[in-house]
Amino acid sequence: MGKALDGVRILDMTHVQSGPTCTQILAWFGADVIKVERPGEGDPTRGQLRDKPGVDSLYFTMLNSNKRGITLNPKTEAGKKIFTKLIETCDVMVENFAPGAIDRMGFPWETIQKINPRMVYASIKGFGPGPFEDCKVYENVAQCTGGAASTTGEMDSVPLVTGAQIGDSGTGIHLVAGILAALLHREKSGRGQRVTVAMQDAVLNLCRVKLRDQQRLAHGPLKEYPQYPNGEFGDAVPRAGNASGGGHPGWIVKCKGWETDPDAYIYVIAQLQAFPELAKVIGHPEWLDDPNFNTPEARLPRLMHVFCEIEKWTMTKTKKAVMDILNPLNVPCGPILSMKELAEEPALRATGTVVEVDHPKRGTYLTVGNPIKLSDSPADVKRSPLLGEHTEEVLREIGLSDADIQAARQQGAI
Ligand SMILES: CC(C)(COP(=O)(O)OP(=O)(O)OC[C@H]1O[C@@H](n2cnc3c(N)ncnc32)[C@H](O)[C@@H]1OP(=O)(O)O)[C@@H](O)C(=O)NCCC(=O)NCCS
Repeated sequence: MGKALDGVRILDMTHVQSGPTCTQILAWFGADVIKVERPGEGDPTRGQLRDKPGVDSLYFTMLNSNKRGITLNPKTEAGKKIFTKLIETCDVMVENFAPGAIDRMGFPWETIQKINPRMVYASIKGFGPGPFEDCKVYENVAQCTGGAASTTGEMDSVPLVTGAQIGDSGTGIHLVAGILAALLHREKSGRGQRVTVAMQDAVLNLCRVKLRDQQRLAHGPLKEYPQYPNGEFGDAVPRAGNASGGGHPGWIVKCKGWETDPDAYIYVIAQLQAFPELAKVIGHPEWLDDPNFNTPEARLPRLMHVFCEIEKWTMTKTKKAVMDILNPLNVPCGPILSMKELAEEPALRATGTVVEVDHPKRGTYLTVGNPIKLSDSPADVKRSPLLGEHTEEVLREIGLSDADIQAARQQGAI
């Protein structure tokens, strides 16, 4: 049985992180992704944050697996012709250049539509239409302008960005959804359409619950926030440390060994249904008959005390032991797992979420495989292309002769 997106061809004009995460997922679904890079230079990430001299960085290899790679400069005469042929023969074009860059190459959306009315044209920009639409944007700019930084961090301290790349990879995943919807719609309409996702919008979408809290704030203090009952609430949602953000309170507590191991912590959620078992196991069965503790409402002003008592218990056990005790009691909890632990986790290797890939220049490396599992169409992760590795192969497929390829090379178009 073939892959889910067999037969779909993607003209991949993406670079850095946000766009490449999108096309990498499409490639894992089985699309033929042709990554177009600038001759001689390529995606800037090939050379960024290198761990080994002279080989493609992990930054690049981990974002561009399962793609074919060609070099092409659409600003040259021969390059324009080749680019036009690529638009004719591809189903989807994806790009995340600074605003206007594709237009300046001579290929605004109107032109693309004329060349191939079935083309789905997908773009990532930092901002949607408005005062910042011309700005260049990287990950942390999106986290700051999309509401994540303002709502992340310790209470009464500076805004914080998160290590999860919600601006780049988060936007890429949103774009995947838009592209797949547009491809499905094309089945009915016969026409492609434009898909755009602004990084600010994607981050805000992921911060949806904080906009919920912004509106709740008008009706009184946010009682599940650590500021309640003693702190002050201003007129905007405050940073809430490690508070859960959901309907059941949670916090990160220390486990045995925290003095030397920076990841000896566990997140514990005091879920309503599981609270009696939790209270008993940590040595506070009397809470169940105490009106100060035996309802969620009564606990709200005492949450920090509740989590201090939970922590007294967790500090006597390793995070794994806490998991082993709390999970059978149905208490939702999760250890703080370091990148080292995740890289070594056998279960993630078994599902292909963490995979080892071989590369002719750099040797084997680890990457995160496709987190989206399709039963009939499992992803097998293949290494990223070398710069221009498939240029001739792809150009022949779209009808160029040896002489055409030679001429394009002389012009610096490829
Ligand atoms: C990420 C970003 C800030 C990088 O900025 P940058 O390095 O200055 O790169 P740009 O996107 O401006 O593109 C640089 C130029 O390379 C050119 N270029 C790109 N590919 C080319 C190719 N194959 N051949 C010839 N020229 C090419 C572009 O046409 C552009 O030229 P121009 O500005 O003279 O028209 C910017 O691309 C951006 O804001 N993108 C949208 C938001 C986004 O995705 N950000 C997250 C990235 S992880």
